[in-house]
This record gives sequence, C-alpha cells and structure tokens, in this order.
Amino acid sequence: MIRMQPRKFLASGALTLLASVPLRAEGQPSTVDARVETLLSRMTEEERLGLLTTSMPAFSPQARGLGAPISAGFNPGVPRLGVPPLRESDASLGVANTREMRKGDTATALPSGLATAASFDPDLAYAGGAMIGAEARAKTFNVLLAGGVNLTRDPWGGRDFEYLGEDPLLAGTLAGAAIAGVQSNHIVSTVKHFALNPQETGRMVTDARIGLAALHESDLLAFELAIEGGRPGAVMCAYNRVNGDYACESETLLAGVLKRDWGYRGWVMSDWGAVHSAEKAALAGLDQESGVEIDQLLNHAIFFKAPLQTALAAGRIPQTRIDDMVRRILTGMEQSGLLDDPVPTSPQSINFERNAEVSQRVAEAGAVLLKNDRGVLPLAKGVRRIAIIGGHADVGVLSGGGSSQVRSVGGAPIERPVPSGDASSFASETWHASSPLRAIRALVPSAQVTFVDGTDPAAAASAARAADDVLVFATAWRTEGEDAGSLSLGNGQDTMIAAVAAANVRTVVVLETGGPVLMPWLPHVAAVLEAWYPGQRGGEAIARIVFGDVNPAGRLPITFPAVEEQAPRSQPGGIDQLRARDAAQAAKQQPRPVQPFAIDYAEGADVGYRWYALKGAKPLFPFGYGLSYTTFREAGLTVSDRRHPVATVTVANTGPRDGADVVQVYVRAPDWPSRQTWRLAGFKRVMVTRGTRRQVAIPLERRTFSRWDVGTRSWQQPSGPIVAAVGRSASDFVLEARSPASSHHGGGQ
Ligand code: BGC
Repeated sequence: MIRMQPRKFLASGALTLLASVPLRAEGQPSTVDARVETLLSRMTEEERLGLLTTSMPAFSPQARGLGAPISAGFNPGVPRLGVPPLRESDASLGVANTREMRKGDTATALPSGLATAASFDPDLAYAGGAMIGAEARAKTFNVLLAGGVNLTRDPWGGRDFEYLGEDPLLAGTLAGAAIAGVQSNHIVSTVKHFALNPQETGRMVTDARIGLAALHESDLLAFELAIEGGRPGAVMCAYNRVNGDYACESETLLAGVLKRDWGYRGWVMSDWGAVHSAEKAALAGLDQESGVEIDQLLNHAIFFKAPLQTALAAGRIPQTRIDDMVRRILTGMEQSGLLDDPVPTSPQSINFERNAEVSQRVAEAGAVLLKNDRGVLPLAKGVRRIAIIGGHADVGVLSGGGSSQVRSVGGAPIERPVPSGDASSFASETWHASSPLRAIRALVPSAQVTFVDGTDPAAAASAARAADDVLVFATAWRTEGEDAGSLSLGNGQDTMIAAVAAANVRTVVVLETGGPVLMPWLPHVAAVLEAWYPGQRGGEAIARIVFGDVNPAGRLPITFPAVEEQAPRSQPGGIDQLRARDAAQAAKQQPRPVQPFAIDYAEGADVGYRWYALKGAKPLFPFGYGLSYTTFREAGLTVSDRRHPVATVTVANTGPRDGADVVQVYVRAPDWPSRQTWRLAGFKRVMVTRGTRRQVAIPLERRTFSRWDVGTRSWQQPSGPIVAAVGRSASDFVLEARSPASSHHGGGQ
C-alpha cells in the first residue's frame, strides 16, 4: 500500500481544461502575502474586527446608507486602505433576487445545477459561471454565494436541484469549473455548504452522522475537487451539525480538513443564521459571521461582535486568531482579483440576449432523453396537429425555490407563495417566462398547436385524441428549506398522464423536476425527456430537442429510484415532525418547532448508484443513463500503467446523426475486498460526427479508487492493478480492462 499526501495528487483530467484560467495558485509566496500583511499591519483593531461580520442590507439602515443593494450580505470594507466593501449576492443559478427584493431587477437564469451536471461538461459549467459572474459584477456585486456542491444523498432533497448530483468526481469537477468561471470576473465565489448538508427539513437542527473516512471519500472529495479546480475565495460552512458539532463550529472540518490538510487560504464564512457561539466557532476556524441579523433573530446574539471582543479581551481567543481571520478575508479578496479590479460603483448594462444563449446551451446539453420508443422523437417538422398539455407550458418553465431564485429577464408569469412551512418565509413557486408552447409554434409555424392546462384528465385525453403528437409537461417543485414529502409528481399529474397516454400512443412526457420522480405511467408513454428546471430559455431548448435541431446528450447525474423504499432512507428525515406540524397548523393550533434529530448516513461513501449496486437494487433509471438520436459504439479500452492512469477508448458514431457521447469510466480496485462498488473515475463529453470515430484519453482521478486513512490523514492507493470499465451508465458496462500489474509502483508518491 502506498501512502500519498492529499496535496500531491494532480487534479482530474477534466480540471486540466481549466489550466488556462488566470488564477493565482495557492501557496505562491509572495506579492499576495506581502500585500495582505501590509494591509493587515495598517489596520486598526476596530477595522480588523469590523471585517468579521456581514449584515443584511434589508435589515440594516447603516448598510443601506453606505450604498448597499438589498441582497444577502454587506460589509463596508476599509475604504481608507483601498479594501472595498463586500457586496454579496446569491447564488449558483444567476444573480438571485428572491421574492423580488430589488424591484424590477432581472437577471439571466441558468438551468438548475442538475442540468449543468447532466451535461458532464466542465467547459459549459465554466461558461455558465463566467456568465452569471459577469452579471453579478455588472450589478456591482463582488461576492457570489455560488458553488453549491453538496452531494445528493436522498432523492427528495429540497435543494438537490441547485447542486450537481450524487457523484463526487462529477460534482466536484463541475463545481470547480463553475467557480473558476465566476471568479474569472475578478469577484469572489464561495463553495458551499461545508459539509454534509444534503437535507433541508430541519437543516438547522439536524446532526449528520458519518464516519470520517467515508466522509472524505464522498462529500469532502467533492469539496476538495471543487476547491482545487475553482480556488474559491471563500467557503461557506453549513447549518447542520456534523458528528455532533455544528458545521460552523467543527474544528475537525474547518481548522483540520480544510485549512490544515488541504492548505486552504481563503476565508470561511458562515451560512446565514448558522453561528451558535463566538469562542468555539472562532477557535474551530470560522472567520466571518454572515447576515448577523438572522443570528440575532434565531440564535439571539451577534457572536462575532461583542461576544468575540469580550473573549478576545479575556484572552480566550488569541489576537493571532483574529489576525488570521482578517488575513484570510484579505487573501480571498486579493486572490480573486477584487482588490486590483474593483466592481463598478453603479450598475452597468448587460447583454441579456447573449447571456440567454449561454443558458440555452446548458439547457440543451443537460436535458436527458430517458425513453424513446419506436423513435417517436424527434418529431417531424411537418407534423400537422400537436397537443400540448399541462405544466403551464403556455407561459413558461418552472424554477426551484429559495435563496437561489433568480428574477429572470421577462419576469415571472406565475409566482405562487408557499402557504406554510419553513420555506414559506422566503420561497415562492416561480415560472420563468420562456414558454415551450410559444417556442414550438415558432419552430413549426404551419402546425396546428393546441394547449390545454391538464387539470381535467378527460379534457386532456380528448385533446390528445385529436392530435397526431402529444407533449405532456409535468412539473414537480422543490425548494430550499424543506425536502419533498414524496417522489410522486403530485397535483393529479400521474392520473392525467395515464389518461393522455391511453388516448394517444405518441405521447411524449417532458419533465420539469428538481430531481427524480416516480413514473407509474412509464410503460404506456412513448418518450420521456427530463428537462430539469431549464432556465431562461428552457422553452426554446425543449422545442429544439423535441424537433431534432439539438440531439440530446445529457446523462443522469443522479439515480432515479423505481420505488421510494430503494433509497438509503425510505422517507425524508424529520418528515413525521413536519406532518405533525402541518396537522397542528391545519387545526389552528400552535405548531411545535422542529426538534433536533440525527440522520445516520449509514451508506457512508457508497452514495447514490453505489448504494444501489451494493443492495442489488434495480433503479428506474441509473446514474449516467441517457439516450441519443444516434448510436455510439465504444471499443479498445486500455488503461495506462503510468503513475497517473489514463483510460483510452475509441468512440464511433454508428447512427444517423451527429451527436455527443459521454464516455464514463468506472473503476474498482481489487485490493479493497471490502469495497467492491465501481466508482466514476473519469469522464468526457465528446462530439462525434456520424459515420466517424474518435479516440479519447481520459485521465482517471486516483482518489476515486483510493482509501482515506484516518490515522495518517492521507489517501492510500491500491498497490495492485485497477479494473476500469466503460459504462453507458453506472449499471451498463460495455468494456472492461485491467491496468498492468506494475501500475502504481512508481514510488515517490
Ligand atoms: C442559504 C445559503 C445562502 C444564504 C444567503 C441561506 O439560507 O442556505 O445558500 O447563500 O442563505 O442568502
């Protein structure tokens, strides 16, 4: 067994794409350090302490007086030394404007994170990040609270839509690329929520329990890759506890893993309302308390003001720790270019048309064709009569709720408040104004296109009967703050789809969902397209895929279970408490707040598809699955025996159209008999023209088949060969190869 220090690993192959990004490397001596030290030495103690909190401008007249826009957070900086104010906005899917807190301020909405993940394309993730970062900058924000990379552990997670799926390599690689894109605008991006925050229900009171090795091999690996690839200026610690300690008070996670083991030099900011102490948090590694008004409201103190100062005066927190906090904030700002290239002081104009094209490209690349019997898709442009049913497809496409909510260009044709529950104070069910109906009419102007809203199954069936082709739009809304109670579509949509499918054999279902849903009608419909929440130009993207202008190539970044019981936990944690609360509310009684509870992540590092493999469970659709309008054949897999293994494979497009294949390489190390599940170790999306073939070389990320050793805090690589397989999905392998036995005996690791 060969031990390696974590920092000696090379970034995965996909991350080498980012080599051209002008980011200053960590650990460079230097001018960064010298500049930061000079600034620090010139600051008064009051100025230093002043940097350790941010407030929410909506609740802070002082921040507004200093010109802060209404947004998530603000800190005045130290203008006399050229340290600009921190102007913070959410989030990963665009410049958020939740509940239109800034009236009339619209931005370009990216599709949900799951759509980006489904593209398996780091370049596209970078382009999306660069686009939303440019809009943030033009709107005078210099910190984008982006980079959500929590792994999906439960298929009903309220924020799964914002994140990048269940696989650490895929999620970490794409998050790193997106963060690098944001920061290419010389603003800071966060990576969040550190760590093990896959659950929304009771997120402030849950204790997420897991073994440390398993955590490193799963959720922490996603963060590690995202930090290496994106070099975010800040890390946002999570609400929940991890193994007993609040994430923002976890010495193991903050001072230990992040700062000591990974050598992270930026700052740790809290999530909003996630701080519970001054001393413990400060000594554990928290550097900045965010949105202090929320802590005051929920946790009854602003910890990094008076309590921190009292602890400092009493010697319970050393001055060196305070200086370290400031140094880290300045380093994060410096490294992302914020000091040299300050954001404009007033909003600049934005080319929304061009930015919408970026969003559309992501939507087109991330849509996943799940079923296509008898080649019903793509529809012929000469079609005479099409019925479009449901999903409010006449006005727009659905988006996910919560702090990431973008008020998109064109406004919100539908915006429904949430009547009760934890999400009701900040989320509303919102459609972006990109109508699939309009887009389809524009694409096939001579067809007769009818629309019915789908609320009446009989009316929907009769519209379907009168049409040649049928597109049913089905939606499932998810939101930050609460996990979904079930994986069913809800609102009678299953019944309606069954009625439509019985009326017309050419029924195509388009899903706009924030994660997996159950599909009881699947055997009876001809085709299913998972469009996720498809963003600013979702309607246009769907139309172009349905009519074949775009050949779908998305692959599932998340397993779709056949039944809810297949998931590691058979129901959302805390759901019983929620049901009791809802019943109390319905009975007009005072509801009891959700009480603390623990979630045992017993699946450990075997998240998602690996859990299904362990249990021998057959999901509805596996991770990595997705169809195309063409066909591919992979051949000639070899794995090099170099110290950094590379898989080489040839992909031939054997079908009728040009298209992109996503080559997925899964690896298993026979050395580890106790851990025989395959893991994605490399991937590449490649465009292949019909009738041609391409050879692709895919570097394999060694940490995906290594083990984390808790005692030495290092990765242990197998000493024997590894077995690699090319999979059409995580459960359909078409080629297998073994690395030469000498594979990893390079020494000197
Ligand atoms: C969310 C964060 C967000 C913050 C600021 C929190 O509730 O968990 O993701 O960045 O609010 O809006």
